[in-house]
Amino acid sequence: MNRYGIKKLVFLLAINSILSLQSCGGVPEEKSSTTQSNKVFAVAEILTLIAEENDITRTLYTKAIVGAGKKQGLKFDEDWQDDEVEAGPLPALFLRGISSDIRKSPVPLGLYLGSDFPINASNKFIGKQAELFEKIKTNKESQHFFEEDQKLYTSMFADLAVAAPCVNCHNEHKNTTKTDWKLGDVMGATTWQYPSDSLSYKEAIDVIKAYRNGTKAIYTAYLDEIAAFKIDSTKPSIGNKWPSKGFFLPTAEVFIDSVRKLTSYKSFEKLLADSDKRKNNYLVSN
Ligand code: HEC
Repeated sequence: MNRYGIKKLVFLLAINSILSLQSCGGVPEEKSSTTQSNKVFAVAEILTLIAEENDITRTLYTKAIVGAGKKQGLKFDEDWQDDEVEAGPLPALFLRGISSDIRKSPVPLGLYLGSDFPINASNKFIGKQAELFEKIKTNKESQHFFEEDQKLYTSMFADLAVAAPCVNCHNEHKNTTKTDWKLGDVMGATTWQYPSDSLSYKEAIDVIKAYRNGTKAIYTAYLDEIAAFKIDSTKPSIGNKWPSKGFFLPTAEVFIDSVRKLTSYKSFEKLLADSDKRKNNYLVSN
């Protein structure tokens, strides 16, 4: 490994250890105030990074927990939190769980899943977001803008009908507002918001941590729900096995560990690439 490679590895390990402190709730103090005021990332870069983590997390939950779990007899329902309903959260509600946990945290990151033809009326895009969603539907490209009403930097990313269940469930749902969704359609968009136009390393890492803590919180809420199921035979065994292997569910740690393995490398590479680019720009402009 060359010197650059070693430096990069040390940096990756450093960030990894900062992120893994999330369960103890602590972040090391910034060494100097200059680091703190060092806003090296444009907000759209970090919202894009976190939207990619979210895609991976949501796909893992949808396929490995919901898809494989249903084959084992696990149920998923929009009323999963009702006492009489013994089921887990649908993917859209898993996302809402993440979003409400982030809202409870001190990190000012907003997350919302909307559409122009929603099942749930409160998910309907309005104003500027409705306008830009029309663009996303035609070219599937993300949109980054300043939302004047809320005074928030906003990024929107297409949410595609990637699998048959997306289309079938939405077309057949009793509250649907559209019955001819097709595979590949832009069914909605995830909207991410943040109050400032740039972020320091610490702020960027806080965003990633808030998102990952949200994932852990909603997954843990699902496991708590299972613990309260009345009939023992409806409770999968919870450990290190996944539903693809039988009537199992991974613990929150095992689930989060998988998410980390799938996302961390890409996220760190992005943080590094962005910082290298930034440094070069800085050198050029100075
Ligand atoms: C088993 C049924 C089911 C499946 C499968 C499903 N959804 Fe949904 N989806 C729902 C329900 C119910 C809601 C409304 C949840 C709420 O109350 O906010 C929803 C909400 C949404 C929303 C927000 C707008 C709206 O309709 O309220 C989008 C966008 C969305 N789903 C896209 C998808 C995509 C893409 C997939 C596949 C990857 C998918 N859904 C799979 C049932 C489903």
